[in-house]
Amino acid sequence: LNKVKVALLGSGTVGTGVYKLINRQRKEMPYKVGADLVVEKVLVRDKNKKREGIDSSLLTDQWEDIILDDDIQIVVEVMGGIEPAHTYIKEALQAGKNVVTANKDLIAEYGKELLDTAEENGCDLLFEASVAGGIPILRPLKHCLAGNYLTEVMGIVNGTTNFILTKMAEEGMEFKEALALATELGYAEADPTADIEGYDAGRKMAIMASIAFNSRVTFDDVYTEGITNISSKDIQYAKEMGCAIKLLGVARNTETGIEVRVHPMLIPLDHPLAGVNDAFNAVFVHGDAVDDAMFYGRGAGEMPTASAVMGDIIDVARNIQFHCCGRIHCTCYKNLPIKKITE
Ligand code: NAP
Ligand code: HSE
Repeated sequence: LNKVKVALLGSGTVGTGVYKLINRQRKEMPYKVGADLVVEKVLVRDKNKKREGIDSSLLTDQWEDIILDDDIQIVVEVMGGIEPAHTYIKEALQAGKNVVTANKDLIAEYGKELLDTAEENGCDLLFEASVAGGIPILRPLKHCLAGNYLTEVMGIVNGTTNFILTKMAEEGMEFKEALALATELGYAEADPTADIEGYDAGRKMAIMASIAFNSRVTFDDVYTEGITNISSKDIQYAKEMGCAIKLLGVARNTETGIEVRVHPMLIPLDHPLAGVNDAFNAVFVHGDAVDDAMFYGRGAGEMPTASAVMGDIIDVARNIQFHCCGRIHCTCYKNLPIKKITE
């Protein structure tokens, strides 16, 4: 059986989840990709830090150990931030390695440049986990809904702020306490300013608008306003008016141009978005053929995000094995018994 070798850049919240999932799914890989999927190396800042469940012999703090290893075919960037992630991804693609990333900061700013580099070098660059955590949304926009003229993408796309607003509304928790809890649960960014000021949601909206409207939208094009000015009193008044306060992202493809914005909004309590609580996300899409479609699920956290990263890794591995990820392969199906229902 062929081996597809993977290097993880980072073993924090998401990296640890991906590592666990690769090992949990190991027996399935011959059926799903026709090969064994193996973590070969894990890049971290501090090799001496205690990391539960990670084989310490795989740890390195040297990028050279990965970029110079010709056997590594997939680099999974889950470090976050712009540098050195940007340089590492570019070098990996230039060296002919495929890349999977969860990094919205990077994709929102350098997505086009990196996709061009991937294309020039015949590599895959996939980033499903960069938007809405575990919810499959980028592939549906790019593939399943490609037959539509999409005019609107909107929703709740930041888990941390939705968690904070939920805890403030339902448990009377203070903003700071709720943010600390979101950080402890692994939802918040390393610097949570990006979450609470709406920048993280703005980057995700820029990525979705670019894909949905076949255009180039960057974070600079997005109006952003966060939730730092929302007080418990505002939430109480909203409740009295029969509303919830949610941080919404809205991207519209209008006759006069694309407009993208993120800001807190009053949502009537009987609207489906008002019931999206904790770190859950929801995205509505409007297309001329499909009409309205809604996507819902966990928008942050270790295993939901790892689920999205793992889907990308498997797609890349299928490409490596079969030179095609879009086809359903019947060559390596599991011959499980079928139970016939008779009554
Ligand atoms: P994290 O917990 O802070 O982990 C970051 C990891 O990267 C750590 O293992 C760290 O090493 C390593 N690292 C950082 N800078 C490095 C460098 N210069 N060289 C080597 N290693 C470095 O972050 P996270 O929450 O897993 O997020 C990772 C990425 O996923 C970010 O882009 C984030 O936006 C994205 N994301 C996160 C979530 C989520 O729910 N957390 C969801 C979707 C997407 P040490 O362990 O040695 O410090
Ligand atoms: N900090 C992000 C959030 C992680 O809370 O939504 C998922 O992208």
